[in-house]
Amino acid sequence: MLAPRNPQLNRHGELIHLLSTEGLSRELLTHILDTAAQFVSVSDREVKKVPLLRGKSVFNLFFENSTRTRTTFDIAATRLSADVYTLDIGRSSTAKGESLLDTVANLSAMAADIFVVRHGESGAPYLLAQHVAPHVHVINAGDGRHAHPTQGLLDMYTIRHFKKDFSRLVVAIVGDILHSRVARSDIHALITLGAAEVRVVGPRTLVPGDLAPMGVRVCHTLQEGIQDADVIITLRLQNERMGGALLPSSQEFFKSFGLTPEKLRWAKPDAIVMHPGPINRGVEIDSRVVDGQQSVILPQVTFGIAVRMAVMSIVAGNEA
Ligand code: CP
Repeated sequence: MLAPRNPQLNRHGELIHLLSTEGLSRELLTHILDTAAQFVSVSDREVKKVPLLRGKSVFNLFFENSTRTRTTFDIAATRLSADVYTLDIGRSSTAKGESLLDTVANLSAMAADIFVVRHGESGAPYLLAQHVAPHVHVINAGDGRHAHPTQGLLDMYTIRHFKKDFSRLVVAIVGDILHSRVARSDIHALITLGAAEVRVVGPRTLVPGDLAPMGVRVCHTLQEGIQDADVIITLRLQNERMGGALLPSSQEFFKSFGLTPEKLRWAKPDAIVMHPGPINRGVEIDSRVVDGQQSVILPQVTFGIAVRMAVMSIVAGNEA
């Protein structure tokens, strides 16, 4: 029996939608990062534009709140010379009961070329990718607790920028792994790119049980988790996705898993500290670390523009 086709790829193995970092080859991930590297300098030009998506229409559909992802997709599409339309979901006809598929069908009738979609339901971008016309591309900007592939890619870009060679790196992902779409996207990308060791670090209630078989080391103390690490990715407690009480309190969490300058000394002296944002200072990370020398949190945001330019230009260049 034939294996089911990866819905992100056409029959030539080219990227036509970006739904997840899972199932993308090392060559493809590297191609996206290399393409992003070529776009970084566009932000330094007097005229911050290239004509690659001139005449194309990009629709941003954010059914969940966003500061970084939505804004950097908007900037990225504008720098590629696309026309950008951001639907105000709160004032849209979604509030009158229009379904996601009907919303997208109607926006497609306005000649959309790319949909950038954030949705609370895991799998929503997959559903759209199955229903859009062959020339239309869907990019997942975060679906439920499932995936946030452009965050995963910009995290890989940041790690490669500061640390060069994945094969030597110990990467620790700390915090609420269970509810984190970023953790899942990072783990798939790190494994594919050949990181020496990937660790997840958190209390038993916030670490899913299915990661050890993927080759991920599961640690339930911060000291074990970040000992001699090269990269530490801290994550926010996703209280909005927690059904019940999974933690005694955020103060207790900070005491055990919050990254302070004192605890950061357990990692390698040149370790970098990352966070996808939004940050809750004093819950998962101390302000002195956020603003400290080892933090690369704001460069992550900046690299997100080039990475999103790369993803949009690549999918737009491929046919279903
Ligand atoms: N990292 C991230 O997804 O941030 P936003 O929710 O602000 O987009």
